[in-house]
Amino acid sequence: MDFLVKPSSVETLKTSALVLTVNEQLQLDSQGQLIDSLSGGAISAHLKAGDIQGKLGQTLLLHSLPNLSAQRVLLLGIGKEAELSDRATRKLITALLNVLKNLSIKDAVLGFTDLRIKNRDAYASARLVAECLADGLYVFDQFKTEKAPAVLLKKITFACSKEQHKQVSAACEHGKAIASGMAFTRDLGNMPPNICHPRYLAEQAKQLAKSSKKLSVEVLEEKELKALGAGALLAVAQGSDQPPRMIVMNYQGSDKSQQPYVLVGKGITFDSGGISLKPGLGMDEMKYDMGGAASVLGTFKTLLELNLPINVIGVLACAENMPSGGATRPGDIVTTMSGLTVEILNTDAEGRLVLCDALTYVKRFNPQSVINVATLTGACIVALGSNTSGLMGNNPELVASLLSAGQQASDVAWELPLFDDYQEQLDSPFADIANIGGPKAGSITAGCFLSRFTKDYPWAHLDIAGTAWISGGKEKGATGRPVPLLSQYLLDRAQ
Ligand code: BES
Ligand code: MN
Ligand code: ZN
Repeated sequence: MDFLVKPSSVETLKTSALVLTVNEQLQLDSQGQLIDSLSGGAISAHLKAGDIQGKLGQTLLLHSLPNLSAQRVLLLGIGKEAELSDRATRKLITALLNVLKNLSIKDAVLGFTDLRIKNRDAYASARLVAECLADGLYVFDQFKTEKAPAVLLKKITFACSKEQHKQVSAACEHGKAIASGMAFTRDLGNMPPNICHPRYLAEQAKQLAKSSKKLSVEVLEEKELKALGAGALLAVAQGSDQPPRMIVMNYQGSDKSQQPYVLVGKGITFDSGGISLKPGLGMDEMKYDMGGAASVLGTFKTLLELNLPINVIGVLACAENMPSGGATRPGDIVTTMSGLTVEILNTDAEGRLVLCDALTYVKRFNPQSVINVATLTGACIVALGSNTSGLMGNNPELVASLLSAGQQASDVAWELPLFDDYQEQLDSPFADIANIGGPKAGSITAGCFLSRFTKDYPWAHLDIAGTAWISGGKEKGATGRPVPLLSQYLLDRAQ
């Protein structure tokens, strides 16, 4: 999808479809009022006749209006204008796309760029619209014999005022880059686990590096991981026939002397639970247990498209968690890269094991901040549901900037407390720590586990178990989150 931004009034723009909005008071947006009067009240006549009520997502297609260069006008209901939330905007854009997709047209013009989402300025409003438009065209049909019908629509023009040209252009550029990162993340999450294994993720990272001189990729294999002492990562992988990989991505957008921001992703390409086997129902969904790694890859794609002038390191801790004669048992004790020993009481708490070695590894980069992203705990879905990612950290400033990035990008997170009092739940009689903290506060004790390995830098942990994936139903699949949040965090650093 190409986005164009044109500072002009819309009556002269040649297009297959001009989109205008109408609210529940049957008021048109400013461009709509202009066109209505130019056409001798052709639109108001339809409003008076009750052809559309302005309800959120309602549409009405009008043909051959007088004195207008556009072939059609598509009226789009926006409901109560003052209450247009992010969520309502998403619904609105979905409704718009449903109409545009089914028309045999190649382009459309949006005349409603003075529309404001509640609590958002011109830039943020246009960006969410652009992101939703691009993301709304996502399809995953590579394993279907019959493909989804091709969408003809190739170009969407945002008509805006001269004053807003700069903001709306930036909004479109950013929205498009974020949607493109999300699409990459969604593809990886939706990919079946027989194809998307640790080596596949390594291949994807290398492929991405081919598109830019600023990105280089190094892949650590078993031998190197052994030499590094990555005993926890290797322990998770030892039950699987798929070899583990630690994938290190280095984006240099700024001077070498600038400390990098580090993103660490959990890359469990299938989580069966291991010997602590998960129940069968819905186990297929555990192919998305690499959603953290996928969102780091997606964020790197966005980063490359935006060409941000900062340094960013991405580390993906990849393994498959399977039961076998070679798998770790409950009770096994392993030595992590940090030297701390861990008693594996539950082989299904494997995410923290692969992450702890990656979190030790990244010290070498002297990071400004380290953010790890992981589908870490089912408990996080119980606590926060599927709209809000869990956030924990050891640095209030970093946590605040992530909360704010989430708000700005409409990809929200909420902080859970990492109070010291929870730490003792990880005590083990036999090793330095246990890998589970019992049934209480499961997301927090997982965070506590990670905090033992992140004392040397500002660190935050995003638990995306609830937000990275829609389970079951028609919408089942990867969401592309938290690419918007992470991209916003990096955009904010690049300011
Ligand atoms: N990958 C899962 C967490 C998860 C569960 C993500 C459901 C998305 C949906 C993780 O590896 C896991 O199994 N965690 C256990 C931890 C427990 C054994 C302490 C869990 O959440 O049950
Ligand atoms: Mn697990
Ligand atoms: Zn897992």
